[in-house]
Amino acid sequence: MAVTIKSEREIELMREAGRLLAIVHKEMEEAIRPGISTKEIDTLGESVIRKLGCVPNFKNYHGYPASVCVSVNDEVVHGIPSSIRFLEEGDIVSLDAGLIYKGYHSDAARTHGVGQINPLAQKLIQVTRESFFAGIKMAKAGNHLHDISNAIDAYIKPYGYGIVRDLVGHGIGTSLHEDPEIPNFAQRRRGLKLRPGMTLAVEPMVNMGYPEVEWMDDDWTVVTEDGSWSAHYENTILITDGEPEILTLYEPGEIR
Ligand code: MF3
Ligand code: CO
Repeated sequence: MAVTIKSEREIELMREAGRLLAIVHKEMEEAIRPGISTKEIDTLGESVIRKLGCVPNFKNYHGYPASVCVSVNDEVVHGIPSSIRFLEEGDIVSLDAGLIYKGYHSDAARTHGVGQINPLAQKLIQVTRESFFAGIKMAKAGNHLHDISNAIDAYIKPYGYGIVRDLVGHGIGTSLHEDPEIPNFAQRRRGLKLRPGMTLAVEPMVNMGYPEVEWMDDDWTVVTEDGSWSAHYENTILITDGEPEILTLYEPGEIR
């Protein structure tokens, strides 16, 4: 499938899809506390999505059974919410959610600490988030896709963390996953040329230890092979003539 360029009308719809998803993330973040079950977070996320008049795009996606991916500690992504899995003080929890607004998709992820967390875990969350911003600094029309990948890799390298290679970011629009794939590690080729109107989900996934991951028996939950903890940070962005526009922030200009 070719990479799509969105029209001005489509961009407006993508903006609204992004803005609404940021509200969903804010509500979920505020609900995080020791003792909450991962299912309760999913239920809340889904109800906010529907209250906003949108549809959760993860639900039933290739059979995924929930609206929000809730991944705890060594779970990297795609953790399935459970009514008997409770967050504990000191955990880190990655929340990945998306929605459809008038046919247009948004997708974003954040990792949060539960109560007081280990400074090493806090650092992992912070560096993962910062690597996203280092990456999208390169997300300018005329640059190439892999300038983003290379910048994320270069940002993380000095910390010695393991960048997940088996999962990548993606184009997004009338489908949750469109071309191109967006790796978070250095590439030999430069990739396609970035053009205004492209909408991309950039999403570094970073492990405290080695980069290798494996799939659990539920066929969804991705965990680190070495048991080290992992963080995820994702926004849907728009390529413009100038700086990229982040569509999934709570308020334009706000950095979360
Ligand atoms: N946010 C994820 C991604 O970027 C999508 C989750 S897959 C699902 O690919 F099945 F849970 F929807
Ligand atoms: Co995504």
